[in-house]
Amino acid sequence: MRVTDLHEITMTDPAPRSSHSGRMHVLIVDEDPAVRSACCEIAASRGFVPCGVDNLETAQRLLRGNSVDILILDLKSPAGSGLELLEEVKLLHPEIAVIVVTAHATVSSAVEAMRTGANDYLTKPFALEELAAVLDRAAERRTVDTASRRLREKLRSEQGLGNLIGNSPEMERIYRILSKVSQTTHPVLILGESGTGKELIARSIHSNGPHASKPFLPVDCGSLVPTLIESELFGYVKGAFTGATRNKEGLLASAEGGTVFLDEIGEMPLDLQAKLLRALQEKEIRPVGATHRVSINCRILAATNRDLGVMVEQGRFRKDLYYRLNVVALRIPPLRDRREDIPLLAAHFLERMSRKSETKYVFSDDAIRTMSEYAWPGNVRELENSIERACALSSGPVLRLGDMPTQLQDFHLHTHQGANGHANGAAASDPDVMPLADLERQAILDTLRQLNGDKLTAARLLGIGKTTLYRKLKEYGIGDSAGL
Ligand SMILES: Nc1ncnc2c1ncn2[C@@H]1O[C@H](COP(=O)(O)OP(=O)(O)OP(=O)(O)O)[C@@H](O)[C@H]1O
Ligand SMILES: [Mg+2]
Repeated sequence: MRVTDLHEITMTDPAPRSSHSGRMHVLIVDEDPAVRSACCEIAASRGFVPCGVDNLETAQRLLRGNSVDILILDLKSPAGSGLELLEEVKLLHPEIAVIVVTAHATVSSAVEAMRTGANDYLTKPFALEELAAVLDRAAERRTVDTASRRLREKLRSEQGLGNLIGNSPEMERIYRILSKVSQTTHPVLILGESGTGKELIARSIHSNGPHASKPFLPVDCGSLVPTLIESELFGYVKGAFTGATRNKEGLLASAEGGTVFLDEIGEMPLDLQAKLLRALQEKEIRPVGATHRVSINCRILAATNRDLGVMVEQGRFRKDLYYRLNVVALRIPPLRDRREDIPLLAAHFLERMSRKSETKYVFSDDAIRTMSEYAWPGNVRELENSIERACALSSGPVLRLGDMPTQLQDFHLHTHQGANGHANGAAASDPDVMPLADLERQAILDTLRQLNGDKLTAARLLGIGKTTLYRKLKEYGIGDSAGL
């Protein structure tokens, strides 16, 4: 994954804006009055509010006032160690962008400063243009950091934009990348199995980005015939082909600063891939049948459930287009690899159904347990559909396993009845009554799962001998299929 080159940030406001109010504040800590005044002058000329101090105590006081956005710190300060102040700033005010200044002879301390968390450094003597460039970079980073922190908080909060649910480490990782890429206009390639939420993520990137008010235009390359994909994307002129009775603008042109979402990009035919690549490189398109060219300005997001790398090797996907689209790759793991999200997602879909039908639905214990254990080959979409179906079929507010699709019921029968096929009619119709054998089987399963399959410890905790445990495992058909 290459999320490193996120420097092409669109700055909507040319004057560097602080996260709290007004323009960004720059604090300069340097004992040399000439350096201080030069820094102040450059900073002021670039729209910052500068303040120069010659000692660390004053600097600390100002930093505590919470109004510093960028700190320029000479590490060789007279009173006290600049490095200590740097550590303190990174600990107490991690949002402040820090530029350290070192003497030529002490490049190694600059290295150490970078390790402690300084964002950039200057070695003395430095040219004023160097200082200007470093300041601009710091302001840019500060703007992106503030925006992405806010967005992360918003995504995490209940009213999270884009309605993304999940707090597994995998989803947290996605929120982190998402909050960064949303601020840019780079292409993003969204990878994941069917139903994992690729389109939802694409919408979220768009609606949290700087051009959220512009259109989000999806094109499903998987369901359209090639000629239709072409006319959808590039448009056509009147008379280009039979039935083209008027000019039609393509989506790439009508996005006008918005986003075009190329869904199932792996299905795009090779000749169209070449045309798309040219359009992205030249930022121009030629509508079908036209002699003129039209300039385009849109962000491209693409998604696929295919392995494009393999398709490139097989010559079925253009390598150059692959690299162009794959500036940032966002891989969404299948639901079975982030099981902690299942109860959250299930509760979310259930609540939505409850609101729609004004019935307070709840899951029966065996329904929720089976949902948590099932492999969900169709991922979040399959979970969503199963819950909607159960709500439609249930005879009351309690959703039982019997209301769930047959594949879930079969899975439950397979894992909870054992290989010897003990029928369990009572448990299927009444979740509160469970035969002793099933309780025992469940206790063994739960214990083993908690212990990651450690049979010796499980036997000890269950108060049975190791041989008895092995016999029971065989009897109840607990094996690898139970995920142990
Ligand atoms: N993290 C999530 N939180 C809430 N809803 C989700 C999440 N992920 C997916 N969904 C829901 O699951 C359904 C499928 O999502 P989406 O259409 O985005 O998946 P997809 O990866 O594009 O699927 P496909 O490959 O089949 O097109 C949608 O109704 C979406 O709202
Ligand atoms: Mg999709």
